[in-house]
Parts: sequence; C-alpha cells; structure tokens
Amino acid sequence: MIKTENLSKVFKTTELETSAIDNLNLEVNAGEFIAIMGPSGCGKSTLLNILGLLDNPTSGSYRFGNQEVSKCSEKQLTTLRKGGVGFIFQNFNLIDELTVFENVALPLEYLKVPKNERKKRVEEVLKRIGIDHRADHFPRQLSGGQQQRVAVARAIAFKPKFILADEPTGNLDSKNGKEVMDLLSELNKEGTTIVMVTHSKRDASYASRNVFLYDGKIVDKLIEEEV
Ligand SMILES: Nc1ncnc2c1ncn2[C@@H]1O[C@H](COP(=O)(O)OP(=O)(O)OP(=O)(O)O)[C@@H](O)[C@H]1O
Ligand SMILES: [Mg+2]
Repeated sequence: MIKTENLSKVFKTTELETSAIDNLNLEVNAGEFIAIMGPSGCGKSTLLNILGLLDNPTSGSYRFGNQEVSKCSEKQLTTLRKGGVGFIFQNFNLIDELTVFENVALPLEYLKVPKNERKKRVEEVLKRIGIDHRADHFPRQLSGGQQQRVAVARAIAFKPKFILADEPTGNLDSKNGKEVMDLLSELNKEGTTIVMVTHSKRDASYASRNVFLYDGKIVDKLIEEEV
C-alpha cells in the first residue's frame, strides 16, 4: 500500500536544524492497522503528515500505491489527497461555522459528488456513527467524543482505502476514546488500511502491528521519556 525508503525530513530555522525524520524505512500493507508510538517530539506527526501527502520529505522515497510521490505532478497529488486519504486529527479540526452535516459533506463536495448522492452518503455515515439526530447542530454544541466521531465520519464519507489518525483519542475521556477506537477497528475489519499515532498502550492494542519511533528512527521497543 505504502512504502518509504530512507525517508528524511529536516526542519531548518535560522538558529536550528531539526532532523525530525531520519532515514526511515516503513512498509504498510493493504489491510494493516499500524499504531505508531514514541515520546513527544520524536517525529510522529511529521511522519503522518508526509504519509498523508500534507507535507514533503527532504529526501528519500515515498511510494503511495504504485506511485513515487516525489515524481507526481501537483495535479496527481491533489487527486491522491482528495480521494485516497482520510485524515483524523487530535483536535478534531471541524469547521465551527458549518453544521455536522455540512462538515461531513465538505470532502464530498471537493470531490464533486452530486448533491443527491452526497446527501445519501452523509446520512448513511452519520447514522453509522450514531450522530444522525445531531446533523443540524454546530460542532460547539457537541461533546468532545461526538465531535471526534463527526471527524471520523468526515474522514470516511468518501470511503478512502487509507486512514491516517494523529492521536484520535488524545482529547477524549476513556469511554468516548473507546467508541472511536471501536469505530476504527470496525473500518479496519472492513478492509481500510489505518496508520494511527497514539500515546496510549490500550489504543495501540487495537492495532495489528506497533511501530516505535525515537529521534525520527524506527526502534525495536518503546523508549519512554519524561516530558
Ligand atoms: N514546522 C516545523 N518547523 C520546525 N521544527 C518542526 C516543525 N514541525 C515539527 N518540528 C520539530 O520536529 C520534531 C518532531 O515534531 P513532531 O511534531 O513530528 O513530533 P511528535 O512526535 O508528533 O510529538 P508529539 O507527541 O508532542 O505530538 C520536533 O523536534 C519539532 O520541534
Ligand atoms: Mg504530534
């Protein structure tokens, strides 16, 4: 599904050069559910952003399906991004001025899914996550757990084969966290490939494989640090 070879990302500011990802090799096969763990600052979000085509690596190869990302034109990248990857963020990233329905419908609108089909898909997915009775609410009128479920709905409405989740339960209590994890687990069982970053060992236990990151490199076991 995806494969990185000697992937590196260096952030340069005037005073500082940070090697956030350091010659990283990672292969994720279709149907896997990967949990990435590691201390704060080890490069988890940087890696996820690159895998989700939201950021470019400094060097190395990243293959998405059968395409080398660095060789893709901007148009090809946009197509991959829009149709290929669903992204779930720690802080939900819903648009406050849009209703639940409109938030979930937005990616479908970008994909130019016709209005009737859009309505059908949004209703289906809201029902699935148990939020259909709140379709006309605004994000601020929902609990954190409900907001994150809407964010999951938005990420899955266009049926992506690949979902990236950056600490999807980071802002949730354990009950709401479990609901989101159960939902991700279900999607994986239906064939969706998932790469999730988490600080929680319980959440990581849902995954079929755990990957540990330290200083931008993959290591054999979890190295925990006091933050
Ligand atoms: N835009 C940026 N400019 C400069 N440095 C950055 C930038 N983004 C990230 N970094 C640095 O790269 C390193 C990795 O950051 P990253 O956000 O990937 O860590 P993380 O593992 O997700 O941490 P956390 O668990 O706290 O979310 C950090 O040292 C960070 O300061
Ligand atoms: Mg992070």
